[in-house]
Amino acid sequence: MNSKLIAPSMLAADFGNLQRDVEMVNNSDADWFHIDVMDGHFVPNISYGMPVIQAMKKHATKPFDVHLMIEKPERYIEDFAKVGADIITVHYESTVHLHRTLTQIEDAGCKAGVVLNLTTPVSVLEDILPKCFMVLLMSINPGFGGQKFEDITYNRIKKLRRMIDEQGLSTKIEIDGGVTDKNIKQLVEAGADVFVAGSHVFKSENPTETIKQLKQIANS
Ligand code: DX5
Ligand code: ZN
Repeated sequence: MNSKLIAPSMLAADFGNLQRDVEMVNNSDADWFHIDVMDGHFVPNISYGMPVIQAMKKHATKPFDVHLMIEKPERYIEDFAKVGADIITVHYESTVHLHRTLTQIEDAGCKAGVVLNLTTPVSVLEDILPKCFMVLLMSINPGFGGQKFEDITYNRIKKLRRMIDEQGLSTKIEIDGGVTDKNIKQLVEAGADVFVAGSHVFKSENPTETIKQLKQIANS
C-alpha cells in the first residue's frame, strides 16, 4: 500500500514554465502539490499569492497543500480556499487564536493543519492535535528552498508520533525542508507520512523519475 505521500514544492518550479511543471507533477507519482506562501514578514522571503495559485489550479489534477508562512493567516483563509486550497496549514507561531483559525479553515471547506518551526516544542500541540488533519514539522528554518536538513527533526517526529498514537488519532506528519532520497527512509522509520521535496525534485535531471524514486523508497 502506498500510504506515504510525496508533495513536490512548487517553490522550486520554473515560474516561467509553471504550466509545464504543474503537468509534470500531474503525470508523476506525486500525491499533492505543496504550495509555499511567504509574506516577507513571518519569513524573510516573498513567494507568491492567490493569482498564481489560481493559475496553477487551472491545470492541476491533484490536491493543493497550501503552507502559509504569513503573519495573521486568519486574514486570508477564505481567499486561499477560493483559489483552490484543499489543505491549509498555518504556523503555530503566526496566529494567536489557533483553534479559531483551524475552525475557519474547516468552515472554508479545507482540511486544517498546524506547522511548527524547527525548535518549537511538539508538546504545544497536545490539546489541538484532535483538530489537526496534519502537522507539518519544519526540518529547516522556513523561508527558502535548498537548505540543509536539520537532524533534530528525527526526534521531533518520534515525539509527535507518540503523542498522536497515545491519543488514538490519524493525524498525518508532514516533513518540509531538505528532504532527499538519502533521508526519506529514516524519516519514514521515525514516523512521518508526507514528504515535501523542492530542490531535490526540480533541480534533478528527471523530476518525474526523482518523484517516483522518493515514492518507492518511502513505501518500501
Ligand atoms: C521553505 C518551504 C519549503 C521549501 C522546501 O520555507 O516551506 O516547502 O520549498 O524546499 P527544499 O525541498 O528545497 O528544502
Ligand atoms: Zn513548505
